[in-house]
Amino acid sequence: MKRIGVLTSGGDSPGMNAGIRAVVRAGIHQGLEVVGIHRGYQGMIDGEMNVMGPRSVSGIINRGGTILHSARCMAFKEPEGRAQAAAQLKKHEIEGIVVIGGDGSYRGAHALYTEHGIACIGLPGTIDNDIGGTEYTIGFDTAINTAMEAIDRVRDTAAAHDRNFFVEVMGRHSGYISMITAIAGGAEEVLVPETPTDIPALVELLREGQRGGKTSMIVVVAEGDDAGNALEIAQKVANISEFKNTRVTIIGHLQRGGSPTAFDRVLASRMGVRAVEALLEGESGKMVGIRNQHMILCRLSEAWKSHTQFDPKLLNVLRILGT
Ligand code: ADP
Ligand code: F6P
Repeated sequence: MKRIGVLTSGGDSPGMNAGIRAVVRAGIHQGLEVVGIHRGYQGMIDGEMNVMGPRSVSGIINRGGTILHSARCMAFKEPEGRAQAAAQLKKHEIEGIVVIGGDGSYRGAHALYTEHGIACIGLPGTIDNDIGGTEYTIGFDTAINTAMEAIDRVRDTAAAHDRNFFVEVMGRHSGYISMITAIAGGAEEVLVPETPTDIPALVELLREGQRGGKTSMIVVVAEGDDAGNALEIAQKVANISEFKNTRVTIIGHLQRGGSPTAFDRVLASRMGVRAVEALLEGESGKMVGIRNQHMILCRLSEAWKSHTQFDPKLLNVLRILGT
């Protein structure tokens, strides 16, 4: 193998740049040429790619976003789109690729591998931490710290005015960010997509908090909760209770940006180095993960077959400590 490509795909996450840097420099260290593919699979189809030298990734380890840009590309979901992409890779003599993205990006990489024999290794890049096979994804740690800081700030004003707040965090299909930030931020309750939300029970929990002497409370809501978003939930609570004067804060995309934490930088760096090694070992259709502090390889399909499971024990911790 002489030439490999690297791309970022799907929702960006802090630490993707550290991953790009690691793939570029580890590849060069191993005597490979590394090509940066811009705008995810769209750039692969369009041939938007160029060789990256070691200086092209200087000064990016501390930056959020992705210097290669990311995209969602409908054409790649079709066999014709993937054939165009494979033709571009062959034209640019790219024999293997490292895809930094979420499970959707892996489905694409898996199809490219099975249909066109392009060797591919995935790095888990998503703030959601919902990918099977790995205990952590690149960007999760930064996102939960950003959300936690936001909750700390909300708590100050909530306490000053004796107000209750609903704070919405990201996670369309996963309650992991919300659960962890709720515990870290000392919230009273969390509402997640994985468990049905019971509005009357939530009202009772808030009343219980008041009876226990609380003058302000925080409920963290995952954006994909089954009862609706934070605004809708606040309205539903107001409709059936005395809690009419709550405030809603939506942290939103603030969680996807910003300088990555040390944890995410090191995770992405280790994963990038391992991905290059894996390609040189002849591996393909696999993802680099971290388990018990060790870099591991698992099948790409594990990413979507065994999504990280919701842990009810964490909910228990929150409930015990939020009384
Ligand atoms: P993420 O990688 O963060 O999960 P998406 O689900 O949006 O993000 O997927 C990113 C891109 O991966 C899509 O825009 C598409 O180009 C490609 N992709 C997603 N699902 C598939 C699929 N089933 N087959 C082929 N390509 C896919
Ligand atoms: O997958 C990461 C994520 O940030 C989710 O938590 C969120 O639901 C989604 O992406 C939002 O994506 P976008 O704003 O790109 O549509």
